[in-house]
Amino acid sequence: MKVLARAPGRVNLIGEHTDYNMGFVLPAALDQALSLYGRKTEGRVVTAYAAGLNASASFNLDQLEPVQGEPQWYDYIKAVFWSLRLEGFPLVGAEIELNSNIPIGAGLSSSAALEMAAGAAMVALAGRSISCDRLAIACWRAENEYIGVRCGIMDQFAVGLSRKDQALFLDCRSREYRHVPLILGDYRLLIVDSRVNRSLAGSAYNRRRQECEEAVEVISKACGHQFNSLREINLETLNRVGNFLTDPLYRRSLYVIEENRRVESAVQSLERGDLEEFGALMLSSHAGLRDLYEVSCPELDLIVDSAVVIDGVAGARMTGAGFGGCAVALVNRRSIDRLEKEIARAFQDAGYRRPLFYLSTAGSGLSFETF
Ligand code: GLA
Repeated sequence: MKVLARAPGRVNLIGEHTDYNMGFVLPAALDQALSLYGRKTEGRVVTAYAAGLNASASFNLDQLEPVQGEPQWYDYIKAVFWSLRLEGFPLVGAEIELNSNIPIGAGLSSSAALEMAAGAAMVALAGRSISCDRLAIACWRAENEYIGVRCGIMDQFAVGLSRKDQALFLDCRSREYRHVPLILGDYRLLIVDSRVNRSLAGSAYNRRRQECEEAVEVISKACGHQFNSLREINLETLNRVGNFLTDPLYRRSLYVIEENRRVESAVQSLERGDLEEFGALMLSSHAGLRDLYEVSCPELDLIVDSAVVIDGVAGARMTGAGFGGCAVALVNRRSIDRLEKEIARAFQDAGYRRPLFYLSTAGSGLSFETF
């Protein structure tokens, strides 16, 4: 038995750091994707070859122990197999080959794509089937409990459930979702990689998550009512009990509450076909991430500041966890060249490394076939 799986990267359009606060997100799949070819073998060994890295690894399915230290690319495969086994899925020996044009480590979910493709392939090679939601949850658990990054569910759902020319409006509390047509007309998504090293992102990310949990506890105490997440707290409540919070915790909470509202407004503006309004929401999202949530960095701010003054740019914001990685701009195709030049020039003037640019439409989600 053989399987060919394809899993895209994702770009989040709006709704950042809201997923683990049980809020709303609006990501879309990229055109850039990872493809995985897998062949079932006898025995308990999995051998994986990553063509782009020209690296291979093999491991035994009966020795899948959670990672200590910096995870390697093959740890994401092991993580998913470990998680599937916990869910009761059988695991079979396999030879796997990976090819990908998703930039690695740029915050475009190359790891979620690898997890989802590896998970789908293993389930198929073992002769079973799994729903996309369940697979996404298995991969999310792999990332949290095996890799040790306490991420939310956005990336795995975006990789799994996205559809061509649509954004995915996901409620991370109920896990209900719907697809919203992303009718870009003359506009394109330009992804700008700041090339800022995100090696500390994991620990800083976990710290933000912890701050949100602390804020929920303080607010609950002050209100005499146990809230489960920032999603359940509105602006009025925050303002009433805000003085019980430290300044950073107040700002984290305010950002999350406002960002959830912005996602809802962004969906409405897309449904009205109002890209200008959508772009304005992107800009306020970025401002919140920079000033209140404090996960941006000077390079990402420079991308957004350079973009916003260019005619034909509806909006721009950092995307993903932040602390480096990418920004996304919604730009009229006539202005793409100019935008790239301006950003590159601003980076050069500031003495930063030359940024990288990727154009994308909203691509399709995970797919696979067996033969
Ligand atoms: C990373 C995580 C996601 C999400 C974003 C921030 O991509 O994997 O779960 O929290 O950061 O929105």
